[in-house]
Amino acid sequence: MPLDALLAEIPPGHPDEALARQIQSDQLPAHVAIIMDGNGRWAAERRLPRVEGHRNGVEAVRQTVEAATALGLQVLTLYAFSVENWKRPAGEIGALMMLLKRYLRSELKTLLKNDIRFRVIGRPEGLPPDVQEELTTAIDRTAGNHGMIFNLALNYGGRTEIVDAARRAIEQGVAPADLDEERFASLLYTAGQPDPDLLIRTSGEVRVSNFLLWQIAYAEIYVTETYWPDFRRQHLLEAILAFQKRERRYGGVTPVAGAAAEVS
Ligand code: FPP
Repeated sequence: MPLDALLAEIPPGHPDEALARQIQSDQLPAHVAIIMDGNGRWAAERRLPRVEGHRNGVEAVRQTVEAATALGLQVLTLYAFSVENWKRPAGEIGALMMLLKRYLRSELKTLLKNDIRFRVIGRPEGLPPDVQEELTTAIDRTAGNHGMIFNLALNYGGRTEIVDAARRAIEQGVAPADLDEERFASLLYTAGQPDPDLLIRTSGEVRVSNFLLWQIAYAEIYVTETYWPDFRRQHLLEAILAFQKRERRYGGVTPVAGAAAEVS
């Protein structure tokens, strides 16, 4: 039953219940992508080291994955580490890798229980070998699941992805005349998945930051002031409700209420 799984997780009377009941289950975005931002500012506001922001961000990841799967999304993509993030101090990178490994180890049971298919988008071969091992285990163990696809973008760049797709087209000997949008999309990291309908960015920044450049062509963008470590089911539901109020046009015209259907 649509939304039953979500409502079953919300204690009766909890403020999220009213939000959940407003969601139209037949108009859910198929794919939600999130730029998780604001971990550093969350920590700075508390006079804590940046790493504490990331540590608390892991709990937000955990709860968002659970809410997204209960909601019945087909795909959830989280931007965890970009190709540009290697410019950060070595200690911060090391802490992020350690948190990622720990998360995968501790959450694998939950991913399996929820029938989630875990995937990585990006260039995982550029990550430390011990992290790659943990990722491969999670990908392989969940490969036979049939529920939500959970993509984690790691060592990811939108332009890098497009370059990798172009390289693949050349390697596969694709003839120029055969290379249309559909074929090109099949060479991206997200091959076979619906494009994001909704792109959420936390912490108030209004930038795309080299994320899913090809795939967000028609995505609705929703920015919340909430810092990522504070992001919870409530914020995901609010973003989806805002999405459901928007008119998607895909380059067509805006329907005007009361206007004649045809102009003679
Ligand atoms: C952006 O905040 C956040 C990141 C670059 C990393 C996201 C990582 C996590 C949420 C934790 C680990 C992830 C998983 C999947 C277990 P920022 O540091 O750029 O914040 P700022 O803009 O406030 O400085």
